[in-house]
Amino acid sequence: MFPFSSSSSSSPLLPTLLLFLLSLPVLFLLAPRILPPRPLPPISLPDDLDDLALFRRAAAADTPPPHPHRRPSAKTRLGSTNPRPPKIAFLFLTNSDLHFAPLWQRFFANGSTALYNVYVHADPTVSISPPGGVFTGRFIPAKRTRRASASLISASRRLLAHALLDDPHNAFFALLSQHCVPLHSFAYLYNTIFHHSIPELTRLRKLQHRSFIEILSQQSFLWKRYVARGKYVMLPEVRFDQFRIGSQFFILARRHAVLVVGERRLWRKFQLPCLDTESCYPEEHYFPTLLSMEDPDGCTKYTLTRVNWTGSTDGHPYMYRRPEVSPQLIYNLRQSNFSPSYLFARKFSPDCLDPLLDISDSVIFRD
Ligand SMILES: *[C@@H]1O[C@H](CO)[C@@H](O)[C@H](O)[C@H]1NC(C)=O
Ligand SMILES: *[C@@H]1O[C@H](CO)[C@@H](O)[C@H](O)[C@H]1NC(C)=O
Repeated sequence: MFPFSSSSSSSPLLPTLLLFLLSLPVLFLLAPRILPPRPLPPISLPDDLDDLALFRRAAAADTPPPHPHRRPSAKTRLGSTNPRPPKIAFLFLTNSDLHFAPLWQRFFANGSTALYNVYVHADPTVSISPPGGVFTGRFIPAKRTRRASASLISASRRLLAHALLDDPHNAFFALLSQHCVPLHSFAYLYNTIFHHSIPELTRLRKLQHRSFIEILSQQSFLWKRYVARGKYVMLPEVRFDQFRIGSQFFILARRHAVLVVGERRLWRKFQLPCLDTESCYPEEHYFPTLLSMEDPDGCTKYTLTRVNWTGSTDGHPYMYRRPEVSPQLIYNLRQSNFSPSYLFARKFSPDCLDPLLDISDSVIFRD
């Protein structure tokens, strides 16, 4: 009845079986190399055609230089083509009211408009009260954003693309949310970004500005995040040893903003839906992975936006409440092991606005 149990055939079968069993771990290890990479599934782009056209235009607006050691042209040296100072583009990504608009208003009031631009991507399915002031007329055409989907990457790319096309003087692109607050004055922030983006030792050689983006690779849950779309799905574009994690709140140098909006290879992969939605935060992986593959030395690998993950629940960091706002909290949040200071912090609940305004001139903007 059960031929496998017959003792007569067991003697030639046993060594073969043993050999097969012993080779299993080896086969398992080699599997990613032996198996042909899965063909790309037909793409159903959440990016519509208008997005693709936008990204193409922005990437073509100025292609990144082929080599970081490019010498400035004679014209640039003479300063005849670029007489205006570089600006910082503040990119607000929100799906609710900009609760801290009055605080940002004060922040920008002390910065010359010649030194910054503001852009807002607001989820169009949510009705948002107009924040007024510096935000007026600064909303870009937006699409719906959802947690655990690539829509936050799309929205960030849209912000970058609009800011690239809008003003050739935008040199840095800072991504912020409605829960972010400034920790310093505009002048301090502007100087820190331009000064510290170039490493001390190379400053005299006038190397290009680095991006302030967190790039980490040692997190225990990284494998779960890597396989969230299926086991071999990220191959061959992104091997596990190339996969990175970092805060989505970055400050990108212009050439990296151009690189991001022109990029399609990794973007196709990161758009695939997650099977494991518990481990799906594409916006924490796409940017660090891409930049660590393309230009690791061009990135600081740390962020300038402070966040508190102590006691986090459900993937949300700690949210500061009204009674916790104090000068001491601002001083604590500024402290950084990597840079002279953090420049922004999150997350703050909306009712923190008044106590933050109370200490804005005496603490936050005094540096
Ligand atoms: C910001 O500007 C306002 C109005 O011009 C001024 O009263 C305030 O002292 C300035 N704050 C700082 C920190 O420079
Ligand atoms: C971070 O959050 C925890 C609560 O989870 C709090 O006790 C701690 O004081 C916070 N740290 C800072 C620097 O605010």
